[in-house]
Amino acid sequence: MSVDSLLQTPAPLAGPLTLIHGKDEAPGWWRSAVIYQVYPRSFRDLNGDGIGDIAGITAELPQLADLDVDAVWLSPFYRSPQRDAGYDVSDYCDVDPLFGTLTDFDVMIAEANRLHLRVIVDLVPNHCSDQHVAFQAALAATPGSPERDMFIFRDGSGASGEEPPNNWASHFGGPAWTRIMEPDGTPGQWYLHLFDSSQPDFNWDNQGVHEEFERVLRFWLDRGVSGFRVDVAHALVKAPGLPDWGGRADGGSSDGYPGHEAPMFGQPALHAIYRKWRQILESYGPDRILCAEANVDPLPRLADWVRQDEMHQAFNFPYLHAGLDVHRLRGVITDSLLTLDAVGAPSTWVLSNHDVVRHASRFGYNGPGPRDGDGIGVWDHQPDEALGRRRAAAASMFMLGLPGGAYLYQGEELGLPDGIDIPDGQRQDPTFARTGGARLGRDGCRVPLPWSAEEPHNGFGNGQEPWLPQPESFKQLARDAQAASPTSHLNLYRRMLSTRRELRLGAGSLSWLERYCTGSSLAYLNGSTLVVMNLNHEPLDLPAGRVLLRSGSATPASDQPVADLGHRLGSNETVWMKINFEDAES
Ligand code: GLC
Ligand code: CA
Repeated sequence: MSVDSLLQTPAPLAGPLTLIHGKDEAPGWWRSAVIYQVYPRSFRDLNGDGIGDIAGITAELPQLADLDVDAVWLSPFYRSPQRDAGYDVSDYCDVDPLFGTLTDFDVMIAEANRLHLRVIVDLVPNHCSDQHVAFQAALAATPGSPERDMFIFRDGSGASGEEPPNNWASHFGGPAWTRIMEPDGTPGQWYLHLFDSSQPDFNWDNQGVHEEFERVLRFWLDRGVSGFRVDVAHALVKAPGLPDWGGRADGGSSDGYPGHEAPMFGQPALHAIYRKWRQILESYGPDRILCAEANVDPLPRLADWVRQDEMHQAFNFPYLHAGLDVHRLRGVITDSLLTLDAVGAPSTWVLSNHDVVRHASRFGYNGPGPRDGDGIGVWDHQPDEALGRRRAAAASMFMLGLPGGAYLYQGEELGLPDGIDIPDGQRQDPTFARTGGARLGRDGCRVPLPWSAEEPHNGFGNGQEPWLPQPESFKQLARDAQAASPTSHLNLYRRMLSTRRELRLGAGSLSWLERYCTGSSLAYLNGSTLVVMNLNHEPLDLPAGRVLLRSGSATPASDQPVADLGHRLGSNETVWMKINFEDAES
């Protein structure tokens, strides 16, 4: 942020402006990038086995270039027994045959390069699969052996070790410990798994684990990736002695944010790991990045993760959790920009990913919707699809006008809702089984994408049934149907992304326009672009200016004077406008 921009703040536009963040002039493609998350098993199935694959991604990369994103982030495609959809890795340096081969991967990178798209891959350093050779070796070895020390094995408590070593719970339900049979057939030690029992946690107090992951980083950097999204980056190091924890399994407190003291999260020793990784990335040049999936609160602690010599970015979960609550949104945006500016890092913004109910469904509720990771089932109170989609467009347009980077989740550009009618037998998220069905889990947001309305399985693949059933509405929301309609959600996204690039909004500034920051609306200026979101039931009068885009009509209204639209912004609608300050002052 430059101090100059403080001086250049335009004259008040129909009321006071509150400058929060000045223009970002620092170099780095990622500071303002839009990064599109591909969930490989649900993106595109080219070989017809019902599961998406790398060749399917390669085939559709031109569509993503056309959408005008800067990079794609791929969720795991590594060798894996798929007990947690690939977040249980058995070989970090190979492609699972389910998705293809390393050659397919190289072909994909070459195509991405041709299209000027960067590729970021997922790194899962907290845990591996119980089928990983290192864990198999640990099982075959004895207590206290170097093999066991790669993981977190402990003797149980209780008279004969029949109780877990501490009271930690798995994020997916049930205890975070599983007892093994020793090679001699007697009940033996326990191992820690913050997630499924098939995902043993590595011991990051062991230098061997550090070396192994440094090798993995280099393996993918050598193959041309632009960086890594680091899975549960806040969990690698555990507090010495593994003390009992009275809070929630996710380390969270009742307000939904991780507590400060959770012994399995946010330990100080983590930072040295990421500093080392940053050095490795920088040895490949300035363009490779690390993004933390770190559910850390409060925000000043998140800023510690993105200091100049640590990660480049971190996901902004407080933003995702703020939903459409205008007070929370304003607070999170202000705090994020101020605290991250202080360490010279850009913020990122996100509304959907593979772990939460899609925002087009979340926003279809007037009261509280489903809890994260719980999903929506046929017996639950159902979201209003049309309302959800309208609000989702408004929320996305509000987000994409903000300075900083943004993460999109595949299918949000189509306004897709969650899959709800998924038979129990087809649900695959371990949360479902580990909670005896009490929490449905995250399958609903992972339903395979619709590409083409007239093809079998809406064009996801023309062979076997997709691994999860697609809802009825996917036919009408298919990409080719939307591409042909100027007023579609997809075409709105295209216009938002190209306008965002053209106006350099990602590298812009933010001032709140107080007059429009009411209990049900928010407005900010980014340069001379005004963004107003109206969540009221009533339309809102707009100031003088030229409308660039409106989320409600999804119709391009370039160069159309607001007067033609009645000077009003509809309910659940966002607008991007160009403000002429001379006019506005009068
Ligand atoms: C992260 C992933 C999630 C996965 C978990 C365990 O939160 O986003 O999908 O289940 O880590 O790896
Ligand atoms: Ca396939």
